[in-house]
Amino acid sequence: MSVQSTVKRRTAPEIRARKNGEPIVMLTSYHAHTAALVDRYCDIILVGDSLGNVMHGFETTVPVTLEMMILQGHAVMRGSQHALVVVDMPFGSYEASKEQAFHSAARILKETHCGAVKLEGGERMAQTVAFLSERGIPVMGHIGLTPQSINTLGSFRAQGREEGSWQPIENDARAIAQAGAFAVVVEAVAEPLARKITETIEIPTIGIGASVACDGQVLVLEDMLGLSPRTPKFVRRYGNLGPMIEAAIAGYASDVRTRKFPGPEHVYGMKAKS
Ligand code: KIV
Repeated sequence: MSVQSTVKRRTAPEIRARKNGEPIVMLTSYHAHTAALVDRYCDIILVGDSLGNVMHGFETTVPVTLEMMILQGHAVMRGSQHALVVVDMPFGSYEASKEQAFHSAARILKETHCGAVKLEGGERMAQTVAFLSERGIPVMGHIGLTPQSINTLGSFRAQGREEGSWQPIENDARAIAQAGAFAVVVEAVAEPLARKITETIEIPTIGIGASVACDGQVLVLEDMLGLSPRTPKFVRRYGNLGPMIEAAIAGYASDVRTRKFPGPEHVYGMKAKS
């Protein structure tokens, strides 16, 4: 017996076909409830390893584990119906060999039911991207600033701000596209470089701090909602939920302390005897 879902999700090939088309909208989510909201408006939901910073308070994404990504990836799949869900491969789960990458990516797909994985790195990861793509695993690349390399980079600095430093990043973009990735995140690179890469490669570029020249945009949901203590310069805040949440918590705490909550309308009465 075949089981067919009535709701059709976006697929990696559909996103690949959006090159030079309508801009691709992507946001992060790590939970079922935010995934349900993001799902109404976005083509792609990214279960980013930024969950290490946002949910767990780590300084970097380096401590994030495969188990964390699988747990939150599954939650996002349960909360969403339409968007393509892409789950980040965390640091240490794919760099050692293409076989290691396949085992980790296969676990992510099998255990979350998501539609694709994302991994960081350009030329050095091209063979791995090809290995996964040829074996049924859609891969999104991530070049420019690659936060998992913070310990070798030294800081989260924008990349390619002098024309002399463009070549390696252009090579990374080309290598990832030729290896079979269906799209590539381009993080924190200067606008003229983002434009040149977007014009040169055949797969959609999804910018974060990389200008409107890209084929789509991604932001961390909590950053654009005003829920993160520190946000990079390129984030536009579309909401300021931090103070609203704090006011709600303060109101509740005050009502409990002054016995105003629960009020009579929140209390069960006794059932009349029949
Ligand atoms: O982990 C993440 O949220 C990301 C985006 C910032 C692109 O990789």
